[in-house]
Amino acid sequence: MSNSPILSNCSAESIQDAAAALKAGHLVAFPTETVYGLGADARNPIAVKRIYEVKGRPSDHPLIVHISSIDQLDKWASEIPEYAIALGRRFWPGPMTLILKRTSLAGDFITGGQDTVGLRVPSDPIALELISEFERISNSAIAAPSANRFGQVSPTSSMDVIEELEEFLTQFDIVLGGAVSSVGIESTIIDATQKVPTILRPGAITPEMINSELKTSVKFVNENSDLRFSGSFPNHYSPRAKVILDVVPSYGQGLVALYGIETPDGVVRLASPSDSTEYAQCIYRAMRTADQIGLKQIVFFQPPNIGIGLAIRERLQKSAMGRKKY
Ligand code: TXA
Ligand code: MG
Repeated sequence: MSNSPILSNCSAESIQDAAAALKAGHLVAFPTETVYGLGADARNPIAVKRIYEVKGRPSDHPLIVHISSIDQLDKWASEIPEYAIALGRRFWPGPMTLILKRTSLAGDFITGGQDTVGLRVPSDPIALELISEFERISNSAIAAPSANRFGQVSPTSSMDVIEELEEFLTQFDIVLGGAVSSVGIESTIIDATQKVPTILRPGAITPEMINSELKTSVKFVNENSDLRFSGSFPNHYSPRAKVILDVVPSYGQGLVALYGIETPDGVVRLASPSDSTEYAQCIYRAMRTADQIGLKQIVFFQPPNIGIGLAIRERLQKSAMGRKKY
């Protein structure tokens, strides 16, 4: 028998099978609107341990628990501030994660031993159906990081997940096929344990959107914080190709730049997004394509530093720091 994971369609029956696989302690990769996730039963320490092994990720690095609606929040989080409820009501389901004080349901093996837990209600319909079905049969939820090896590029399609993780998954694990992720970069993470919300990782829910909802000014995390948040590790989002920012590309290099910016002779144009929303959708795909066709360097012209542009620039700047071996 092959050791490959099952690549499944997203019929109602496949989703039920996937929920049953989670209950049995297996892993299920599934689409979300941000990037694909690698899911396990959030209350099963052995299943969760496999996520860390498959990703090659340090075990003190916490995972996001994916729930089906804001109604599930109390199960996993306590001491929830008013503003967190307001944000959840406004932006869930959607690309936002809230960090809150945990309840005893969120074990140390999910939170990396911290007394907080990350929670998100994704909007992708397959993700929501899977989470709802799993909650129904298990009284649990789905812990899931992005479905890539630690430090590498997040997958935005089921084929990317297969390419990235096939050799580490078993024939009992499932990769749910679905749409290409419509946002294309990971969720905005907001620390909601303090008086004032703090953005730990920028994303498609922008500071402007948060400020306009709360009528206050959201803060940004201090780089010296002792929180183990995403991207606080030195390398992240890194393809094999070297990422270079905002220089004129030369022969044989790849280029990603907004539509309207010309491609010099001999440069491989990887994407021409027409705005920052499209730019977010294409950055990880462009990095994978560059690696697949063997480019050694990719030049990105960064989009303007407003709206989702802030999150794109953060990812690109981390990518440009290069890949490190673990
Ligand atoms: O869009 C997303 O957020 C995707 C999809 C699959 O939902 N997930 C994702 O997970 O990006 P991951 O594990 O690759 O990045 C989530 C980051 C982790 O790096 C971790 O640092 C941070 O969220 N995080 C999770 N729980 C936390 C906590 N209790 N305190 C601080 N940071 C936390
Ligand atoms: Mg990740």
